[in-house]
Amino acid sequence: MPRILVLYYSMYGHIKKLADQIAEGIRQEGCEVVIYQAPETLSEDVLKLMKAPPKPSDPVFTFDKHSILAEADGVIFGFPTRFGMMCAQMKAVFDSFGHLWQSGALTTKPAGLFFSTGSQGGGQETTAFTAITQLAHLGMVFVPVGYTFGPDEFRQDRVQGGSAYGAGTYAGADGSRQPIEYELARAKHQGSYFAKFVKRLAPK
Ligand SMILES: Cc1cc2nc3c(=O)[nH]c(=O)nc-3n(C[C@H](O)[C@H](O)[C@H](O)COP(=O)(O)O)c2cc1C
Repeated sequence: MPRILVLYYSMYGHIKKLADQIAEGIRQEGCEVVIYQAPETLSEDVLKLMKAPPKPSDPVFTFDKHSILAEADGVIFGFPTRFGMMCAQMKAVFDSFGHLWQSGALTTKPAGLFFSTGSQGGGQETTAFTAITQLAHLGMVFVPVGYTFGPDEFRQDRVQGGSAYGAGTYAGADGSRQPIEYELARAKHQGSYFAKFVKRLAPK
């Protein structure tokens, strides 16, 4: 059974909600899923100033867990936007992959992306697009979700996150907006779609 890693960072819980849906979609395809969160890099003082709630209960992806990534059949990374690109906490995880880059352990591994921004125009696409450099240098294979979820992707009558690059949601200026049903369903779809892709690569 292929094993897929979902590796995310979430400060206010929006990305965590998408991560759980992505995991559900992966399971629906009969794949095993392991979920980890990126280690925090900010001090308790700063987190308090940012009114960050307690962390989700998922295990933390510390250096000794790198073998889980190296051995996974695919990985989906999720992170909130910071100034139009991935948050530093997730970048710090990528920056710890030097030895995996050197050994080529991640080459040919399929990788997906999902993201959250505060506002429309705040970086839904730039956040994903600028993350692709990480994947390219590691030799990973970016698996976009494209326009595979259906006609609702073209709706103009409401605010809805996500794009061809992956699932997405909006937190609003104060973080009070929560992922809508459509965004959660689209995240689940991404999990299933990605799992199907990984299964196609599995040896017969
Ligand atoms: C330092 C900082 C920078 C941010 N930069 C952006 C930004 O460039 N564009 C945007 O739309 N939202 C921005 N946000 C809002 C976050 O993306 C939002 O809090 C996040 O998507 C919520 O996801 P989470 O609940 O999983 O942490 C920023 C937030 C912080 C704290």
